[in-house]
Amino acid sequence: MLIEVPDVLSHAELQKVQALLANAPWADGRITAGSQSAQVKNNWQLPEQTDQSQAARAILLAALNRNPLFLSAALPKRIFPPLFNRYADDRNAFGNHIDNAIRHCPISGQRVRTDLSATIFLADPDSYDGGELVIEDTYGEHSVKLAAGSMVLYPGSSLHRVEPVTRGARLASFFWLESMVRETERRRLLFEMDMSILELRNTQGDSAPTVNLTGCYHNLLRMWADI
Ligand code: NI
Repeated sequence: MLIEVPDVLSHAELQKVQALLANAPWADGRITAGSQSAQVKNNWQLPEQTDQSQAARAILLAALNRNPLFLSAALPKRIFPPLFNRYADDRNAFGNHIDNAIRHCPISGQRVRTDLSATIFLADPDSYDGGELVIEDTYGEHSVKLAAGSMVLYPGSSLHRVEPVTRGARLASFFWLESMVRETERRRLLFEMDMSILELRNTQGDSAPTVNLTGCYHNLLRMWADI
């Protein structure tokens, strides 16, 4: 299941992050790649201890933690601190790969199982050509290129790639998270139920069936969540 979360960043936050990344010390993207993905990874990445990375990461994490659509879709347990990449010049593509299953977080020292992968697009899509994130799932291939400040969430188990950027520069943040609900299908069911309850509440108020359904949602979450 692919879920788009529009406008994760406000306009002001996006401008701040773009300004931080404009003069950042980009390095070879293979610094975090596994041995298979290193073969196909050809991009720039911002080392995580740089001032720019730390400042931009704090903005993103604050934005994620206040976003109800993201929280409902991901049910995050542990978020790997967001990283930043740039596709441009002769480092402009990332071939097919599946992300590593377990990530060691150097900041918290915790391991994070990568149930979900996320990309937050940070450059105006009109400012570069190519750079689509292509994700394969059981329904085929999906090509994703979103407005700056918007995010796509997809199962960490998906084969995916970034198409070559042929003009301009594609800036993005990417990260993984471990969900309180490990199974994609369960998470999807909870998300759809939560969205439907929200709509029912908006159109009908807190009717007795809506209150009951809300209870069902929480009881399912209680049954399935691992915290
Ligand atoms: Ni990847």
